Amino acid sequence: MSVTSLASQLQGLAPADGSYADLFSSVLPAVIDAIGEIASSLSTAHRVALAGTANTFGDDQLNVDVAAELVLRNTLAAKCPSVVTASSEEDPVEKPVHSEAAAVATRPEHCYTVAFDPLDGSSIIAPNWTVGTILGIWEGPTAVGQPAEKQIAAVLGVYGPRTTAVVAIRLPGSSKADAASSICLEIGLGQGQQASQNSEVLRSSVRLAAPPFKTRYFAPANLRAAAQDGRYMALVSNYIQQGYTLRYSGGLVPDVVHALVKGHGVYVSPVTAQSKAKLRQLFELFPIALIVECAGGLAIDPADGSRILDRVLQGTDERAGLVCGTAEDVEAVKKALLA
Ligand SMILES: *[C@@H]1O[C@H](CO)[C@@H](O)[C@H](O)[C@H]1NC(C)=O
Repeated sequence: MSVTSLASQLQGLAPADGSYADLFSSVLPAVIDAIGEIASSLSTAHRVALAGTANTFGDDQLNVDVAAELVLRNTLAAKCPSVVTASSEEDPVEKPVHSEAAAVATRPEHCYTVAFDPLDGSSIIAPNWTVGTILGIWEGPTAVGQPAEKQIAAVLGVYGPRTTAVVAIRLPGSSKADAASSICLEIGLGQGQQASQNSEVLRSSVRLAAPPFKTRYFAPANLRAAAQDGRYMALVSNYIQQGYTLRYSGGLVPDVVHALVKGHGVYVSPVTAQSKAKLRQLFELFPIALIVECAGGLAIDPADGSRILDRVLQGTDERAGLVCGTAEDVEAVKKALLA
């Protein structure tokens, strides 16, 4: 497909009243371009090595993490005048995207804040497994102190044998992220700097299926925790006894996207006394939760069963566990883990 098709398909989805106009016309196409560029840089990165640096969270950075971070930062600065603030897992302090002069010159009517994990899945990238980018778009000049409702869109970039993206947008005026008030698309990408020019919408309505399910899938993250938590062990045994199919790679993006593509799945990453909460609210949990809910699923915090999108973001380093996927399976996990 040509540039007009993805751009015009996106524009065709924009609300008629002009709200979120920049989101559809410039921010989303630019993010798709960045995902294509990251895919190209991964496919030519013959070595995956420690960059010799650590991010603010103390995690070692890989050369490919640094490259993906740079692609996204440069894209936002060059192509997204309405994105005024950005932060990432590699550099988690919110900073202005544009110089003061550029900001005054363009004066966006609506402004956005972007928060992203440029390359999720460092532990499985060396064996060349599928990894991803996770990105959330917030209305306004900051995400900190804001309710999750201000996150109006999220994008997952999926780098495997093919490059794809899942894009979810909650339409204005709806606080719920259910299927009726949101858009969830799957996009197939071309490679290179202008990926949006040879990308196409593969599915215009990504939805988890309703029962009865032909095949039921489970993804038990942090499975070592089952050795210390009898409830998690019982949950996993129950899946095995009920004939669920195991689909788990250890990459948050491919594991969640698996459920979205197959129409069923439950991803469980519990928190126990010995294994602490690891996933970042801003860079991982909020965007994943928005995507899953826009596809008709549910995303909760296993510590107390609360809905992740009911939160107010207190700071960029907040962390939690995650249970997400098909709503009825998520409810069952909540009962099993909190009993
Ligand atoms: C990694 O896998 C992709 C296909 O998924 C392939 O094109 C590429 O050559 C592989 N890279 C390495 C270094 O094996």
